Amino acid sequence: MDSIQINGGIPLQGQVRIQGSKNAVLPILAATVLIEGTCLLSNCPKILDVYRMQKMLTELGSQVYWKGNELYINSENINSDVMKREDTKSIRSSITLLGALIGRTKEAKVGYPGGCVIGNRPIDIHIEALSSLGVSFVETEEYLLARADHLHEGIVKLRFPSVGATENLILSSVLVKGNTVIQNAAKEPEIYSLCEFLNTAGAKIEGAGTSVISIKGVERLNGCSYSIPGDRIVAGTYLAGCMVAGGAVLLREAPVNQMKATLNVAEHMGALLQRAPEGLYVEAPRKLVSPCNIKTGVYPGFPTDLQSAFLVLLTQIEGESQMEETIFENRFRIVDSLRAMGADLTVNNCKVIVKGKTPLYGTVVNAEELRGGAALVMAGLGAKGNTKVDSVDYIYRGYENIGRDLRELGARVYSV
Ligand code: EPZ
Repeated sequence: MDSIQINGGIPLQGQVRIQGSKNAVLPILAATVLIEGTCLLSNCPKILDVYRMQKMLTELGSQVYWKGNELYINSENINSDVMKREDTKSIRSSITLLGALIGRTKEAKVGYPGGCVIGNRPIDIHIEALSSLGVSFVETEEYLLARADHLHEGIVKLRFPSVGATENLILSSVLVKGNTVIQNAAKEPEIYSLCEFLNTAGAKIEGAGTSVISIKGVERLNGCSYSIPGDRIVAGTYLAGCMVAGGAVLLREAPVNQMKATLNVAEHMGALLQRAPEGLYVEAPRKLVSPCNIKTGVYPGFPTDLQSAFLVLLTQIEGESQMEETIFENRFRIVDSLRAMGADLTVNNCKVIVKGKTPLYGTVVNAEELRGGAALVMAGLGAKGNTKVDSVDYIYRGYENIGRDLRELGARVYSV
């Protein structure tokens, strides 16, 4: 795996375009399995997880090809309903192919998506919810076998507003006769964009973005064009990078309306933010102020995917702050690396107590997962000296080219 080297202590300046959203495009790619026609996805991010989904779609019989940042998918000739284990364990969002295959072929053989270092990522909520609509499951060592001969309409109340389970319910129901209602649905923007895409293809879905989503089944869905919205997590990551390094930047095409909780915390810390049609202007404070307690939560709460990046910021604020993680059970993966850089952190179950302000010093650290790896790069921007982040393939799962983006903002960041 490659590494990234950051020569820290240089305030950021300039502007960078925020890429299309990983967590919006992945379920939409799964949804193309339901569509007997050609879909054109513009502003599609060129990231590892998209390439992995592309491989799985191709193995199912879809035709998938790029033209610049536009991705074309035609799933008219789906000729398989088997998702190989070595593919599905490589990316969590492969689980949404379960719902799409059930919706299209009424059966699926899907390798378990597997956990990752931030949590064991079970799929019990998915199975419980789909079973209540008539899907029968057989769980073998390697595979989950699903049959949906009796898939029917119904009302499903999720015991937790799981993003993936909400997506799977939508995908399995859009072609089912009658009305299906999801209660306690996830409200993340990625649910909204999935439903917007499906409605563009001819689905009849209402309530996306609220906790009650109603799906009126249709006979078929047609090929369509759709532009992937900007990535709120990439934008929030670079916002944190500017705040830790100092300076002033424009994050072009940042989906500002999806970032309220993040922007509120940044402003509480002293950032000057200006929302504009072209994106988000960020001016870092001379000194981060107001120690604070941040608690992650489901949307519209503070996003768990920005927890690591904002933990870095808490180390730069005078006084005692706290980060509480309520979504994943093991998402404080960068604590040891931040300690090695000079931070004073104490982990207490799902909380980290931060004693700031501690200067950060460059050293060699290891990205263990996607968002933690990106957060370590942000820490390197604010550290004295050079920071080398190893295993950056994790970062390329969700960031097209973090080095290129940060160089456009004047940072001294190089692949090594
Ligand atoms: C999506 O994961 C995102 N991934 C995650 O982003 C994001 O952190 C998460 O939603 C929460 O916003 C994609 O969209 C590809 P969940 P997902 O189902 O769908 C537990 C990133 O960095 N749970 O809402 O897996 C689960 O273990 C990634 O881009 C069950 O217990 O999230 C977790 O603790 C990381 N049983 C919590 O619920 C289930 O059946 C939230 O999971 C399903 C989930």
